[in-house]
Amino acid sequence: MGHNSFYVTTPIYYVNDKPHIGHAYTTILADVLARYHRLMDEPTHFLTGTDEHGQKVQQAAKANNVSPLEHCNNTVVRFQELWQRLGITHDDFIRTTEPRHTQIVQAILSDLHERGLIYSASYKGWYCVPCERFYTEKDLVDGKCPECHRNTEELEERSYFFKMSQYQDRLIDYIESHPEFIQPAHRRQETLGFLKKQPLGDLCISRPKARLSWGIELPFDHDYVTYVWFDALVNYISAVGYRTNDALFSQWWPASYHLIGKDILTTHTVYWPTMLMAMGVELPKTVFAHGWWLVGDTKMSKSLNNVVNPMAMIDQYGVDAFRYFLMAGMSLGQDASFTEKIFVERYNADLANDLGNLASRAIKMIERNFAGLMPPCAEIGDDERELATLCLAAAGNMAEAVKNMQLDNGLGTVLATVREANRYFDKMKPWVLAKSGDLATLGRVLRHTMECLRIASGLLYPCMPKKMTILRRALGISEDAITPHMPRLSQWNVLSEGAKVALDEALFPRAEYKEDAPAAAPPAMAPTPKEKASKKADAVPGVISIAEVGKVKLQTAEIIAAEPVANSDKLLKLQVRIDQDLRQIVSGIAKFYSPDSLIGKHVIVITNLKPAVLRGVESNGMLLAAEHQGVLRLITTDGPIPSGASVG
Ligand code: ME8
Ligand code: MG
Repeated sequence: MGHNSFYVTTPIYYVNDKPHIGHAYTTILADVLARYHRLMDEPTHFLTGTDEHGQKVQQAAKANNVSPLEHCNNTVVRFQELWQRLGITHDDFIRTTEPRHTQIVQAILSDLHERGLIYSASYKGWYCVPCERFYTEKDLVDGKCPECHRNTEELEERSYFFKMSQYQDRLIDYIESHPEFIQPAHRRQETLGFLKKQPLGDLCISRPKARLSWGIELPFDHDYVTYVWFDALVNYISAVGYRTNDALFSQWWPASYHLIGKDILTTHTVYWPTMLMAMGVELPKTVFAHGWWLVGDTKMSKSLNNVVNPMAMIDQYGVDAFRYFLMAGMSLGQDASFTEKIFVERYNADLANDLGNLASRAIKMIERNFAGLMPPCAEIGDDERELATLCLAAAGNMAEAVKNMQLDNGLGTVLATVREANRYFDKMKPWVLAKSGDLATLGRVLRHTMECLRIASGLLYPCMPKKMTILRRALGISEDAITPHMPRLSQWNVLSEGAKVALDEALFPRAEYKEDAPAAAPPAMAPTPKEKASKKADAVPGVISIAEVGKVKLQTAEIIAAEPVANSDKLLKLQVRIDQDLRQIVSGIAKFYSPDSLIGKHVIVITNLKPAVLRGVESNGMLLAAEHQGVLRLITTDGPIPSGASVG
C-alpha cells in the first residue's frame, strides 16, 4: 500500500523549452528528496518527463520541416542529457507521446464522457497561444493574458467540457480538512481564495483539429484533440500503472509529493484534484509549490537575455557545487535570487573553506603523522563530547528537515556543525601537538574531526553525491559503506582504526569571481597543481570549454554596402554596421550572392578576428555562413535585432 512508500514527481517540462536553472531546480529537489528517502530504506519512486503535445510543438516542428514527433524526439534529449549530467536518479521518464500515456488519457476521457461528466457546448473566450489557455473577459488584465501579459485572441468554437464546477464544494472541504494537501500554507490560502471568490466554471478540455492537430485525439469525436493540461496531468498516474497494473498503482499512488513551481498552482490544485474526484481516484498527499529563482531581483526571461544555463554553471563549478547552491540557497516556498557572485561567495564560504579545507587539513596531518592510517579513538574529552553531540543532532535535524521540506535548514545545520569542527580543530592546535610529539592527543583530535566529516559527508551525500563519494573514500570508509546508511549517521565512532586515509586533491578548489567578467566567459576556477598537471591528459579531442567558446566574440551586423573585389570571382568587399561602428569585411561569397542582394541583411560576424589583407583589401572580421555540397548560405537573425548585439 502507498503508506510506507515515497513517490515524488516533477512537472513534466515542455519539450520545446531549453532547460534552465528553474527546471534544474525542481528536478534536483526531487532527486535530493528521493535520495534521502532511499537512504532511509523507504521504497522510493521518482518520476519526471516531458509534456510534448500542443501548439508550440506543432509550430516549431513546422518551422523546422519535421513531423511533431520527430521534433519532440530531437528536443527531449536536452532534458535527458541535462538530467544525466546533474546525476538525477529518476526511476522513470515519461513522455506524453508514449502509448502507455495516450491510451490511459483516452480511457479516462471515454469513461468520463460515458458517465456524462464531459459534454459538448459552444464556447467563446480569449485564447493565449503561448499559455494555451482560454480566459474569460474578466480574467484578462488590460486585455492581455493574466499569466504572461501577451495579447490574446477572441475565439468562438464548439468544444467539450469537463464538469469541473460540480466539485467546487467538495474540493474546498477537502483542502480545508487536509492542511497537508497544498503546501506551503500561503499557497493553500491562494487556492482557497480563488475557489471561494467565484463560482468554479467547467473546464474546456478539447481543441478542434482544424486549429491544433498535435494532441491526443478525443475517443468520442475524431475532429478534436485533448487540451494539453487534461493530457499532461494524467502522467502522474499513467506512469505508475493506473488502469493497467493495479499492484503497481497501489504501491505508489497516492503520490507523496507533486513538486511544482508556483506558476502551475491552479492546474495542480484545482484541475487535477477535480479530475481525480471524477475518476474516483484518491488525491495526491501533497502538492508542494516552490518559489521562483530570480536573476538578481528580476524574473528570468529570454527577452531580458538573463536566463541561467545550468550546463554553463556545471562546466564552470561542477555538478555538486551547483546542486548544493540550489538546495541551500532557496528557502522552500519563497523566491530566491541567483547571481554568479552570490554563487561563488557561498561556494567559497561553505564548500571551499569550511568543508574542503577541514578535510584537507585533517587528512594531511594523518598522512604526515600516522602514515596515512586512521588513528584510534582512544578517549573522549569534553570538547569531543560536545562536538559529537552536535554532529549527532545534525543527523536528526536533517531527517526532520526532509520531512518538513526545509532542506535549506537541514543543510545549514550540517554546515554549522562543520564550522564547529573547524573551531574545535583550531582550538586543539594539532600542529602544536605534532611538533611536540604528543601523538596520543594528536590522534584523538584528528580522529574526532574525521568522525564529524563522516557524518557531514553522509548527510550531504544526497545533495552532493559525487564529491561526498570522494570525501568518504578519503576518510577510509570501505566501498560497501560509501553510500551512507542513515542509521549509521546517528552513531559516533564508526570509522575503522588503521583504515587508509588519503585525499589526492582539493575537494572544492577556491573559485574566483571577477566583477567585470563578460557573461560569455565566466570567471575562472583556480586550478589545483594536480589539475594543471593533468590538464593535457584530460582534454577530450574536439571538445572545448565554455571559456574557449567565450573567446570568440560574435555580434550581429547589418550589411550597408557591397562590391566585388577586383581580380577575384569569389570575394566581395562589404561595409557592415556594428552598433556605432562601420567595418570593412572581405568575404568569399561572390558566387552565391550578388552585391545588391546583400544590402540590409542582418548577419553574424566574428568581430575579434585578427585583421587580414585579402587581394590587397583589408578585412576586419568574418561573416558566418553554412555550406553544404557547394551551396552557401549566410547565417542571419530570425527577427529584427539591433546591430552590435552579442551572439552566444
Ligand atoms: O509548466 N524558478 O512546464 P514548464 C523555479 N508542462 N522554478 C522554475 C522556474 C524558475 N524561475 N522556471 C520554471 C509546464 N521552473 C508544464 C507542466 S505538469 C503536468 C505540466 C520550473 O516547462 C517549475 O517547476 O513551463 C515550474 O513549475 C516548471 O519549471 C514549469 O515548466
Ligand atoms: Mg512555463
